[in-house]
Amino acid sequence: MAEAATKTKQNVDFSRIREQFPVLSQEVKGQPLVYLDNAASSQMPTRVADRIDAYHRNEHANVHRGIHTLSQKATDAYEETRKKVQQFINAEHQEEIIYTTGTTDSINLVAHSFGDRFIDEGDEILISEIEHHANIVPWQMVAERKGAKVQVIPVNDDGDIIWDEYVNLLNEKTAIVAVGHVSNALGTVHPVKKMIAKAHEYEIPVLVDGAQAVPHTPVDVQDLSADFYAFSAHKMCGPTGFGILYGKKQYLDKMPPYRGGGDMIDKVSFEETTYNITPHKFEAGTPPIAAGIGFGETISFLEEVGMQNIADKEHQLLSYGTKQLQSIDGIRIIGTSQEKASVLSFVHNNIHAADIGTILDQQGIAIRTGHHCAQPTMRRFNVPATARASLSFYNTKDDIDRLIEGIKKAISIFNDS
Ligand code: ALA
Repeated sequence: MAEAATKTKQNVDFSRIREQFPVLSQEVKGQPLVYLDNAASSQMPTRVADRIDAYHRNEHANVHRGIHTLSQKATDAYEETRKKVQQFINAEHQEEIIYTTGTTDSINLVAHSFGDRFIDEGDEILISEIEHHANIVPWQMVAERKGAKVQVIPVNDDGDIIWDEYVNLLNEKTAIVAVGHVSNALGTVHPVKKMIAKAHEYEIPVLVDGAQAVPHTPVDVQDLSADFYAFSAHKMCGPTGFGILYGKKQYLDKMPPYRGGGDMIDKVSFEETTYNITPHKFEAGTPPIAAGIGFGETISFLEEVGMQNIADKEHQLLSYGTKQLQSIDGIRIIGTSQEKASVLSFVHNNIHAADIGTILDQQGIAIRTGHHCAQPTMRRFNVPATARASLSFYNTKDDIDRLIEGIKKAISIFNDS
């Protein structure tokens, strides 16, 4: 991509933005680092690290508990993030934003709590064939507990769900649809708005696993009409150990708590305990306060860059990377949907993905190889593993060029041996 192409409609200078990520300036194995493992975890800008550091140095106290000034300040800063998240994803009510430890925790909360209240024996839970394990296993667990059944929407050879199969699987026994917005293994963007509208014709709620979508594109939960939407801070330049569950109040208010402990109660006696209101009834115990405050700073940062600018920049990089990969003999891209975000998953016809990953690492290039916590996806495409380069807005055309050179080098090493 020419230098001009790094500027977006809003004229964002991504090279200046990249400078805010000092981790990207280091050398690995004697070469400048190329970080293309953003779907696993993305990097943190200095201002977010500084905000977390300032909290630890000057502002630390427990939240929601103290009458003293420091505790009140910590509570205000921590709760400010809830407002920012509400605006960031356009939730109608602040109480619809529940703090969790990440997407996995968010989905487990819904599977457990919605499952307890709304899933009965003989019911069906509908997921797609290319879900992350975090959006498979919690549903299998609740299905086993309640005598329900997990049903699977198949995908075609491009990695797109087969629409007619989806529609045929929806029926009066379907208790919930749980689907990834963007596949972590393939990059497919599921047509979640259309899927939700169809499920709602049957009054079936939909949970969206947005872990790989929120970092890469604007998300408006009211526009989608999602009933639940889950995502993680650490995949969007924020801290680990923090995430969000958005849920419509109409469900959250009826769902029982997921974990018991401090903060989630109203009154406790040995005879009876009553619970706090939503969202606090789902937030037992001392939370990850520093991460929550850091996540508020992350959202301010992303909003300043602009989520549409991020989406446009990453789309340019994805198109460029796709063309370059396709030009290498023996490489096959897994996941060829027209609607993709940020993921280039590929195999070589006679070199194992792990070997490609190892040789790339020798050149300072970080990608992920393996099943990407999506074993059924690998099975669907008859591959044991893929090599996956996953993009962020701070990546550059040069990063892609280094990846392509690195893959060619790996192929030449194997061809010569
Ligand atoms: N879910 C993360 C990934 O796709 C860890 O790599």
